[in-house]
Amino acid sequence: MMNKYFNKYIKLTSAISLCLGIASLSVSYAAERTNQTHLDPVSAAQIELGRYLFYDADLSKDGSMACASCHKQRHAFAEDNKTHPGFNGDHGIYNVPSLANVGMLKTYSWTNQHITDLAKHALVPITGTVPVEMGMHGQEKVIEQRIASNACYQRLFAKAYPDLKAPKITMTTITQAIARFEGSIKSFDSIWDKSQKTKQPLPSEMQEGEKLFFGKGHCASCHLPPLFTDQKFYRIYDQITQDIRTPPLRNVELTAPYLHDGRAATIEEAIYAHDSKNTSVPVMDKQEITAITIFLKSLTDYTFINNPAYAMPKEDCIK
Ligand code: HEC
Ligand code: HEC
Repeated sequence: MMNKYFNKYIKLTSAISLCLGIASLSVSYAAERTNQTHLDPVSAAQIELGRYLFYDADLSKDGSMACASCHKQRHAFAEDNKTHPGFNGDHGIYNVPSLANVGMLKTYSWTNQHITDLAKHALVPITGTVPVEMGMHGQEKVIEQRIASNACYQRLFAKAYPDLKAPKITMTTITQAIARFEGSIKSFDSIWDKSQKTKQPLPSEMQEGEKLFFGKGHCASCHLPPLFTDQKFYRIYDQITQDIRTPPLRNVELTAPYLHDGRAATIEEAIYAHDSKNTSVPVMDKQEITAITIFLKSLTDYTFINNPAYAMPKEDCIK
């Protein structure tokens, strides 16, 4: 069973025309970008299998919730609610983060510094109890049986794990394939990336904010390119009891609301939340915050949110 999503993406062509010139791939992170057309067949089959699983609500107790119910491609694999309740209505605790470039992160969570493996992390939404999300705590065998009883998945697992002896369909291979798909989710084609690659300046209206972001605002000391996070944990304002990992800012235009609990409705509000007594961020006026917000839109990657390789498979994986 699979949730139906309305993936009618609006093809947005950037209004700003960029002089692309001859791309000299001198940026230091270029090597980290995978070119999925050069994958070996087994890796490609694992990623494809993971994509089916990511969009499959059969991984939840009552077949109502997939990973993609909360991580939506049109929102850079975040979503537009403050928090998202579990399948049973259990309140969410944290805002849903984007999964852009998630395979390049060292830890997986706003706050938890000990989850360092993507495949192990996949068990958190599936079987977690604080909060309940997909509700399969103690139901691992049920998931394995559900997936194994599906002839389409039997074919996909045979292709993805050709050398593995039976049983091929286990929680280990299920979570590993999901992690392979997540690891393939790359976003490095924003206006900012194009400007880096071509050594051309950003569109003029973004330049003031760029200067503030990398200069006076001290933003890049924590929101460090290329991921726009240093992956370290801070308390940037009082009244919180946990350190929060610096969130990556790629595609931030698409991931409202903001901050770990979704308390900020807009990018401006999220910037204002940085207390200058807790951070190196100086007090700035409205015009400066607006300029930075305009700059942050250079991190929106329309190639990424329209990439069919990350979209819901065209057909359900049913017999
Ligand atoms: C009910 C909504 C919901 C569902 C369903 C869900 N997630 Fe999430 N996801 C979240 C929330 C909320 C967080 C942040 C949790 C935290 O920080 O502790 C998160 C965090 C993550 C992260 C860590 C990202 C980071 O930047 O640290 C990954 C990876 C992830 N989810 C993958 C998945 C996968 C794979 C599935 C399906 C097996 C899934 N999620 C299902 C809501 C959801
Ligand atoms: C000391 C490190 C640090 C500095 C400096 C810093 N930030 Fe942050 N930023 C964080 C942390 C940590 C959070 C998450 C806080 C939370 O969720 O409660 C955050 C959150 C954000 C968010 C919300 C993102 C989201 O996905 O929810 C935006 C936008 C942002 N910062 C922009 C900026 C800008 C612009 C500057 C410079 C003016 C800046 N930050 C300076 C650490 C920093």
